[in-house]
Amino acid sequence: MRLAELRIENLRNVASAQIELGPRVNLFLGGNGAGKTSLLEAAYLLSHGRSFRSGRHETLTRIGQESMSIFGRVQHADGSERRVGMVRSRSGWEARIDGRTPEGMIEVLREAAVVCFEPGSHDLIAGPGEGRRRFLDWGVFHVEPEFGVVSRRFRRALKQRNALLRSGTTARDLAPWDAELVACADRIDDWRRHYVGLWEIGLAQVLGDLLPELGAVDVSYRSGWLAGARLQDVLAERVDRDRARGHTGAGPHRADWSIAFERAPQREHLSRGQEKLCALACALSQAALFAQLRGEWPVVCLDDLASELDREHQAAVLSWLDAVEAQVLITGTERPTMLANPGATARTFHVEQGQVATLL
Ligand SMILES: Nc1ncnc2c1ncn2[C@@H]1O[C@H](COP(=O)(O)OP(=O)(O)O)[C@@H](O)[C@H]1O
Ligand SMILES: [Mg+2]
Repeated sequence: MRLAELRIENLRNVASAQIELGPRVNLFLGGNGAGKTSLLEAAYLLSHGRSFRSGRHETLTRIGQESMSIFGRVQHADGSERRVGMVRSRSGWEARIDGRTPEGMIEVLREAAVVCFEPGSHDLIAGPGEGRRRFLDWGVFHVEPEFGVVSRRFRRALKQRNALLRSGTTARDLAPWDAELVACADRIDDWRRHYVGLWEIGLAQVLGDLLPELGAVDVSYRSGWLAGARLQDVLAERVDRDRARGHTGAGPHRADWSIAFERAPQREHLSRGQEKLCALACALSQAALFAQLRGEWPVVCLDDLASELDREHQAAVLSWLDAVEAQVLITGTERPTMLANPGATARTFHVEQGQVATLL
């Protein structure tokens, strides 16, 4: 899919912008603090319902304003088009699709698929497991139609179980929630495991291009509970501990994955630069798997590409992207040298003080 148009009102320093995006490379140039990252953040929000930058949602809305909104005109490979949007006000988020209010934000997230590499992306490798679970679940969500519903059911069961644990109930009171939790957990775990199995093939290929010096790659996935055990047995066995802590210590909410290389078996063996390349490979291979399974590419965003990667790796990424069908959004303070002659399909925009202008 691609974003033919992106409209933003009151997101960070962008008071109002209407951007007609090109089908391939779109380059956003401007000084520090101009609003470039905020534009990618807008695209990312449509796909993830949250920002890649940490912080509360309230800080997204331009200072002094009551609400902000993002609209995107999404074009799919089959020729269909959807207008998706999200509005944030004091009362929370509201989703829009083709002028109507859908049942939930999930319908917007289904339409828009955006992957992003940005200065915080190394956290995917070095940071807490939550980011890795989110990454994995984004991929699963787009290929398993029931994943969204089942993971919502799981979260509800987990919340209920945790509340009961804290109120000091008996194992019998927990039983119905345990059954629901386990039923959902097993499906989530199967989907995630299957996805990782497919994804690691493409990841190894991209890493072979970007980080060949580290040797063969191995991805390991952990369910979030004792390997090989049944979750219901694990829950029963640790119920006293869970009660003492007031929350459920095992389950898919504890799942994680990690990448090991032949010549860097622990993540602590990686330099910050290598962590970044790993995170980039994760995003690109996730995009490639999406394309393979869905028959269209997600939008690929690269924030501050030139300051994140050395020239050699910038060139490698750009040539990788040049060979595929994806729409690409790149930001920078200057035009990367490899895009000096970006070709007829590339579009360049100048960003300054939250205003976006198309450069001819
Ligand atoms: N809620 C907000 N309201 C107004 N301005 C904001 C808000 N949040 C961040 N900013 C400002 O928006 C500007 C754009 O930030 P950013 O998109 O990160 O710029 P760039 O990527 O071009 O360096 C910054 O000057 C930042 O201080
Ligand atoms: Mg920026």
